[in-house]
Amino acid sequence: MKKNKNLKVSIVMGSQSDYKIMQLAEKTLKKIGVSFETKIISAHRTPKRMYDYASKAENNNIAVIIAGAGGSAHLPGMISALTSIPVLGVPIESKKLKGLDSLLSIAQMPKGIPVGTLAIGEDGAINAALLAASIIANQNSSIKLKLKNWRSSQTKSVKKNPK
Ligand code: RP5
Repeated sequence: MKKNKNLKVSIVMGSQSDYKIMQLAEKTLKKIGVSFETKIISAHRTPKRMYDYASKAENNNIAVIIAGAGGSAHLPGMISALTSIPVLGVPIESKKLKGLDSLLSIAQMPKGIPVGTLAIGEDGAINAALLAASIIANQNSSIKLKLKNWRSSQTKSVKKNPK
């Protein structure tokens, strides 16, 4: 990885149809002030694009990859097989199996090639962004502070009384 450059998060997704969920990862990273890029990369429809992207990711100053995919959802695992950058998988809700297929596919990676798996859908996309920010915060005190402030305002927003 190149030094003295801003590390960024790379958000990828298998299809344009995943963007309505994955844009929540973008919005969350924006709020915390983490740099990111966003791309559509399909493991089965654009395998060459996936290979080129994953094999060059480290040189492109990517610190964490967030990969959203639905159905057989092999994108996060395939990317992780091509790079040692941490990959966080977001299972997208599928029409037939409500995302259980995506969740199991992403979570059940055989040993040796890890993918951190988040919840299905919106919660997963938001938490993937928060987790990516936490990973970057290990080496970036300004992001660490922004993350702490974000948590603190979340805590303050919870009322004590429901009425
Ligand atoms: C996966 O297939 C994508 O990640 C998406 O969730 C799912 C359906 O894709 P489309 O048929 O909507 O393009 O590759």
